[in-house]
Amino acid sequence: MHPLQCVLQAQRWGPLASVSWLLFRTCRAQSSVHGTTCPGPGRQQENGVQKDFSSRLAAGPTFQHFLRSALDPQEKPDVEDPPPYLTVDELSGRQRKVYLETYGCQMNVNDTEIAWSVLQKSGYLRTRNLQEADVILLVTCSIREKAEQTIWNRLYQLKALKTKRLRSRVPLRIGILGCMAERLKEEILNREKMVDILAGPDAYRDLPRLLAVAESGQQAANVLLSLDETYADVMPVQTSPSATSAFVSIMRGCDNMCSYCIVPFTRGRERSRPVASILEEVRKLSEQVLQLIHERDNICKQIHLPAQSGSSRVLEAMRRGYSREAYVELVHHIRESIPGVSLSSDFIAGFCGETEEDHLQTVSLLREVQYNMGFLFAYSMRQKTRAYHRLKDDVPEEVKLRRLEELITVFREEATKANMASVGCTQLVLVEGHSKRSATDLCGRNDGNLKVIFPNVEMEDVSNSGVRVRAQPGDYVLVKITSTSSQTLKGHVLCRTTLKDSSAYC
Ligand code: 5AD
Repeated sequence: MHPLQCVLQAQRWGPLASVSWLLFRTCRAQSSVHGTTCPGPGRQQENGVQKDFSSRLAAGPTFQHFLRSALDPQEKPDVEDPPPYLTVDELSGRQRKVYLETYGCQMNVNDTEIAWSVLQKSGYLRTRNLQEADVILLVTCSIREKAEQTIWNRLYQLKALKTKRLRSRVPLRIGILGCMAERLKEEILNREKMVDILAGPDAYRDLPRLLAVAESGQQAANVLLSLDETYADVMPVQTSPSATSAFVSIMRGCDNMCSYCIVPFTRGRERSRPVASILEEVRKLSEQVLQLIHERDNICKQIHLPAQSGSSRVLEAMRRGYSREAYVELVHHIRESIPGVSLSSDFIAGFCGETEEDHLQTVSLLREVQYNMGFLFAYSMRQKTRAYHRLKDDVPEEVKLRRLEELITVFREEATKANMASVGCTQLVLVEGHSKRSATDLCGRNDGNLKVIFPNVEMEDVSNSGVRVRAQPGDYVLVKITSTSSQTLKGHVLCRTTLKDSSAYC
């Protein structure tokens, strides 16, 4: 076999990847019609080919290149040199439009986000319109036979699309990513000549290179499985703008070897993502949530942050995983991100080993944060818990209750102060129903999720001027706040409105 026709590339991850399989086909698509391997060149061309081969060999990868490629992923430089046979320009997406289609499990949803993150960094654009795509990538599933059949069928449709492609446009490239690429490897390339690239679940970093190779009409594949690839440093990009949830993947692969299951063979050995990278992703998602709460009028601006105690010593005994300082820092960050946010919390009085000094720390936290809502409890030992087995419930009952009373008093004083700021303001209230305490009043919630009580009277409807209505559950009304307690606001209703019609009041 001619060395240029079929090159087994040195494995990037060295001996760790000895179970894996990497095929880098440089066969020209049109020359592979004679069989599964590429035919040798004709005799009359041999001299030219020999020359061509020598010059390409001289310009090709050196031994150093392979050594560098075998570096531990952690040691890899941020910006990798392009492989010697491709220029930086060839490696870049050059604004080509990628259409991604996801099949199968939630891991594939996450893989799609990772693949897109890699391609986006490389200069590709995303399209949701198949017709305008320059590259179509299917993130595939092999879990059951039917899953694969669905993808074969889709490939036949795409083949028609590729054939019909106008010559004036760049040729359409089609790629198979994920489990099916891993399981069927060459079979896909051989059976479906229109497939340009194959990338297994551990090869998404290689997508820009594979696509660059495919640019010249060659098929390219990387189905190398890794023992340590977790894409820890690749921040997934949420692919569906309307998604209401996000997945944070914490591990890849599977070692269980259930006797019916292909997954260990398509996704490789089980490995966990480094904790720091999981935390970083969760932090970014939390930031996005804060941003959304801030921006969207239809999300109420209230966050429940159960502190349990204001003493770092007690928090440690409770195994809460944060200190008082970290908690206060979070509160400041949330208040900066969502001005006017209302905060609520849970506290436990008299946890095992809580001293008077610890208790005063909780009092001071209540004063410092000034919560709008609070849920305060005296500690009660529960069987089976760690505290039950390891700690002593040593705060006497009467002390627990006295401390609880003190916490409640301080919480009420601070909440009343915070709520007083609303008096005189007009607030948008989502009506819930009748007030529990009075048949003539209605009850609703303001944007901080605080209860607002107002008389059930006829009012004007902003969107139907002249029409008098009574508020129904689910309606939005404007209420002018006239008085407050620590728990509720009271006022009189001005009119029925809608989220759109009411801009921020007060
Ligand atoms: N004793 C007292 N309060 C408790 N909570 C949970 N367990 C206990 C307990 N053993 C409180 C915490 C928690 C809330 C739901 O109930 O404050 O946040």
